[in-house]
Parts: sequence; C-alpha cells; structure tokens
Amino acid sequence: MMYTPINEFIRITKDAYLKGWHERNGGNLTYRLTKDEVEEIKGIFNAREWVELGITVENLKNEIFLVTGSGKFFRCVELSYEENMGAIEISPCGSKYRILWGLTNGAVPTSELPSHLMNHNVKFSVTNGSHRVILHSHTTNIIALTFVLPLNDTIFTRELWEMATECPVVFPNGVGIVPWMIPGGNEIAFATSELMKKYDVAIWAHHGTFCSGETLDLTFGLMDTVEKAAEILVKVLSMGGKKQTILSHEFKELGDAFKVTLNPECLK
Ligand code: 13P
Ligand code: ZN
Repeated sequence: MMYTPINEFIRITKDAYLKGWHERNGGNLTYRLTKDEVEEIKGIFNAREWVELGITVENLKNEIFLVTGSGKFFRCVELSYEENMGAIEISPCGSKYRILWGLTNGAVPTSELPSHLMNHNVKFSVTNGSHRVILHSHTTNIIALTFVLPLNDTIFTRELWEMATECPVVFPNGVGIVPWMIPGGNEIAFATSELMKKYDVAIWAHHGTFCSGETLDLTFGLMDTVEKAAEILVKVLSMGGKKQTILSHEFKELGDAFKVTLNPECLK
C-alpha cells in the first residue's frame, strides 16, 4: 500500500518531468508533512544518524519533510521511489537533519537543501505556517528570458503579467530575481530566502525557478503559470515584440474585480 502524501509527491514529480522542466537530475522538490500525514506514514520510519545542515532553521525544528535525492532524476521517482526520494526530520536545535525513510543505497537529500529549508523557514513565518512546498524547476522559457530581460524584479514581473490576464491574480506580488550565483550553497540560499519574504516566485538567472505554495498542486500550478507566461513572451519577442498590451489602469481594474492587491511597484 502506498501512503497519500508520498503518492501526491510522486504524482507532482511525474507531472513536472512531463512538462520538460526536469532534464536528467535537474530540479528538486520538498514538502513539509502535516501532523496527520506524519501519523499516517510514521510506521515506515527508521531513523539514521544526524547530519549537520550548515545552517540553522529556527522555524523548522522537529518538522518532517519529503525530499527528492541529490543527483536523482524526477523521471525515476515514480519508477523507484525509495531510491530517489525520502523523508527527513529536522533536529530539535534546527541545525541538523536525519533520514527517516527512503534515500536508499547511500542517497542523500538534494544539494539545494539549504535553499529549500531557508525558503521554508522564511515562508513559515510570513504565511503563519500555511506554505508547505518548495519546487525548484529548470523552466526553459524563464531561463531563456534571463538572457534578454534586465535582471530586475519589477521589469520581469510586469513583462510576465502582461502575457496572460490571470497572471497578476496568480502571482500578485510578482517575481524576484537572483543574479547568477554558484548553486547548492548557503549564499544563494540566503539570497533566495530574502526574496521569499516578499514573493512566492524566485528566479535564478541562467538556471531556473523556485516556487513556494500551500499545497503540491498550488505550487505546481504557480510554476506552470509563470513558465507559460514566459513561453508566450518568448513567442511575442520572436515575432518582433508587442504591438499592444494590457495597460496599468487595466491591471488596477483587474485587481479590483478579483479583489487582489497587486504589487504597486509593477503598476507604474
Ligand atoms: P540535485 O540533483 O542535487 O537536486 O540538484 C539539481 C539541481 O537542480 C541543482 O540546482
Ligand atoms: Zn537547479
């Protein structure tokens, strides 16, 4: 028998792979389990030794996450899930983790664990614990745009908003941009988590996208919406650029109609 949260996690890795966002081992996913979900699956836990995180995540003490493995392919999670994903627990001091289940044959959590956990740590406080998911994907069109648009939060947001009427409703605060940095470390993790105080989407220039959300489906849907807007923008730029678009006063009317507060910096 397979357990509900593990099933859902596998479904998202499969769907994200099929979107073309996860070549080879590209991208990673982490999900903070609810207390009920921990109860549901704790029978399969078998704790291993504690490992230093190299960071302290104050808000995540004793929390349990489902994570993808480092070097593991999203394509393979469904085919052999115990090898390619696992459950980890954060220590009572918030500076260590241990594997509770999965990640067999010497596998370890994603190399982007510092970024994922620092993002979860920030989102835990700014959303009162409602956000549980961080998804990092190698989104083709967003990456392409980081070679041609200025690496500026406001400009990127406005360009993406204009590509589909529902975009500002789905990501009303916009997107933040991290300039090119070495992945896998604490420095890029800190830069990303700073953006997560304000945005649910952080774009790593020439690399990919991080999305945060309440549920696996909402986070996948956010990634899909942002990447689709980027795909439209790539097509529009390839056809010679915009001849007409949605105007600032129209976005304000849209915000009023859908009762969402749009980031005012992107409405000038
Ligand atoms: P992992 O295989 O360690 O998860 O790394 C993939 C990746 O996308 C790095 O940014
Ligand atoms: Zn990556």
